[in-house]
Amino acid sequence: MTVEINAHLPSDTESATRSAVTEVVAGMKGSKILAIASSVRAMIAEGREVCNLTVGDFKPSEFPVPSILVDETKAALGRGETNYPPSDGLPVLREAIATLYKRDLGLDYGMEGVVVCSGARPVLYGTWQLFTNPGDKTVSFLPAWNVGYYAHLCQTDHHFIGTTPETNFFPTVDQVREAIRGARLLVMNSPLNPTGTVIDPEVLKGIAHAIVEENRSRGDAPPCMLMWDAVYWQLTKDEYPYHSPVQLVPEVAPYVVHIDAISKGFAATGLRVGWAVLPPYLQPKMKALIGHMGAWAGRPEQIATAALLNNAEAMGEYNQWIKSEVDARLDALYAGIMDLKESGLPVDAIEPQGAIYLSFRVNLEGQSNEQIRSTLLEEAGMAVVPFQAFDLDEDSGWFRISVGAIGTAEIPPLLNRLGATIRRATESS
Ligand SMILES: Cc1ncc(COP(=O)(O)O)c(C=O)c1O
Repeated sequence: MTVEINAHLPSDTESATRSAVTEVVAGMKGSKILAIASSVRAMIAEGREVCNLTVGDFKPSEFPVPSILVDETKAALGRGETNYPPSDGLPVLREAIATLYKRDLGLDYGMEGVVVCSGARPVLYGTWQLFTNPGDKTVSFLPAWNVGYYAHLCQTDHHFIGTTPETNFFPTVDQVREAIRGARLLVMNSPLNPTGTVIDPEVLKGIAHAIVEENRSRGDAPPCMLMWDAVYWQLTKDEYPYHSPVQLVPEVAPYVVHIDAISKGFAATGLRVGWAVLPPYLQPKMKALIGHMGAWAGRPEQIATAALLNNAEAMGEYNQWIKSEVDARLDALYAGIMDLKESGLPVDAIEPQGAIYLSFRVNLEGQSNEQIRSTLLEEAGMAVVPFQAFDLDEDSGWFRISVGAIGTAEIPPLLNRLGATIRRATESS
């Protein structure tokens, strides 16, 4: 006999869901970026010409992963490497990550300071869980990737610091010093999603000093920790090299959790290998959280990642290649938008510095970001995400362009369509 499940379920599933789940879960908002991306996919499926600049992901045909990841994953599977890995990751990978941090960043944590998991998100959520109780003060700045969702899940008293394009959308040292008073967690990300900007090392140094001073002033009270989300650290332009706050101010080390992954630097978003690098005395607690979530990375992918990270030459070659591909796209879009600006159209952009993003502005008087977004999509076939999807409420005309899913040949016709659309919109207003 087969039980027809649907016949036994309530008809009003929305109210049934609301009554079954906790208040916290009922209050969760869906990802605005994913909602926009799925409507764009539907348009593409209908055969419309759309340049998809929405998702922070890579199209494998444009950005294949390093071949060593493919070969070693297959080989590990072939050898029968299919059982549980340890909950903080295979020692061979933890050792490889510790070596990478020492070799490339000069940070010697040892493998005791590494927890591996399935992409960056589990250790990201784990960091919130480790250091915050409901009601605790937490801080980040705007625009921000997904921070609001985690603050909601952990029910913290979250404070967003406002930023401006003049500081490349990063906070000033004074803003942070003020905001972290009494806070348990400061969340920072650079290179920054959604803006494609990199924090000035002098500002980062000042922020790291401010954290040290704040924590010294607390005596035995719990410190303010820094979640340093650096998933794009390998994707910076040569003129904007990456710095960890611990490199700049070693005394901040007790408070810093680095969040990292192969997802972006190696275009391997679907392989799900990420990690935290943190003070070794905190490692067992992060390990326990990840273990209970069961959020470890697959064993074959862990073995393949270790082989990649241990091969400095292969890593270097891939890094040069992916940076040149990402830069070619970002630079072409930036130059094209600046040409349109020079021709008098109300558009702007911030020079790309890192990650796979470009901050792009369209300033059409009296139009909301949502109206502009839909004009760009419908008339220019240009799919972008407004900064509102990154917790910024104002209709400031700023959008995120993401270049991981497009080919270079798509850019010139896109810029032509964009110019024509903005010209039309300006003339008709
Ligand atoms: C700033 C930032 N942190 C973390 C992540 C999550 O990375 P993963 O896919 O490895 O979980 C992303 C993904 O877009 C991101 O942009």
